Amino acid sequence: MIIGIIGAMNEEIQPFLKLFDTHEKIEFGKNVYYRISYNNTEIYLAYSKIGKVHAAITASSMILQFKCEKIIFSGVAGGLQGLKVGDLLLATKLCQHDVDISAFGHPLGFIPESQVFIESDSSLNAIAKEVAKDSGIHLYEGVVASGDQFIHSIEKKQWILKHFNAIAVEMEGASVAVACDCLGVPFCILRSISDSADGEADVSFDEFLESSAKISAQFVKKMIDKIIK
Ligand code: ADE
Repeated sequence: MIIGIIGAMNEEIQPFLKLFDTHEKIEFGKNVYYRISYNNTEIYLAYSKIGKVHAAITASSMILQFKCEKIIFSGVAGGLQGLKVGDLLLATKLCQHDVDISAFGHPLGFIPESQVFIESDSSLNAIAKEVAKDSGIHLYEGVVASGDQFIHSIEKKQWILKHFNAIAVEMEGASVAVACDCLGVPFCILRSISDSADGEADVSFDEFLESSAKISAQFVKKMIDKIIK
C-alpha cells in the first residue's frame, strides 16, 4: 500500500520524521517529498506550503506522481464552537468559506458542477474513531471550513459558523478534499487546535503550532499502524 501524509507547514510534518526513522528525499514540483518505508508500506510525506492551491498541488502530486492510494492530512486549526487548544478533530466534510459567487445566485461556498461540502472517507474516519477509542482520546467531528485567510476576528469566525456551521477553520483541507474527490482517492483530515480564530489567534498559533502539530501527528501515526495491520 502507498499512503500520502500532508501537512501545510514544516512544523506539521517534523513530528512524523521523528516517528519514522529512515527516509529518502525526492524533489518534485518545487516541493520535497519524503519517501518512507514502513512495515511493507510506502509512505510519502510532504508539507505543501500554506493555502488551498499549494495543498491541492501536493495532494494531486502524491496521487498522480507517487501513486498514493490514501491521503491523510495532519496539522493544526483554529477552533470554533468551544474547541480548545490541543483538542483533536476529524473533518466529516469540508467546504471553502472564501468561495463567493453569490452575485449569480449561487449559495456561498458553491462552485457550479462541484458542491459546497465534500465528505471525507468513511473507512478512514472509522479507523480514526477506533484509534480515539483505543487511546481514550476525545475526537471532535464536524465540518471544517478552509480558505486562504488566517481567521483572527470574532466577526469573521461568527460569519463562518453562521454560514457553514464549521467546528474549525484552516487553509488547506477543502482543497485536498477536492483533489482527492476528483481523482477518486480516499482521504481524511485530522487537525489539532492551535488557536481560537479570534483576536489572539496569531499569538496562540505561534505558541501552540508545534505542540498541537505533534498531537495530530502522533494520532495519525496510530492510524497508519491500524491501516496497515
Ligand atoms: N490554522 C490554524 N489556525 C488558523 C486560523 N485561525 N485560521 C486559519 N487557519 C488556521
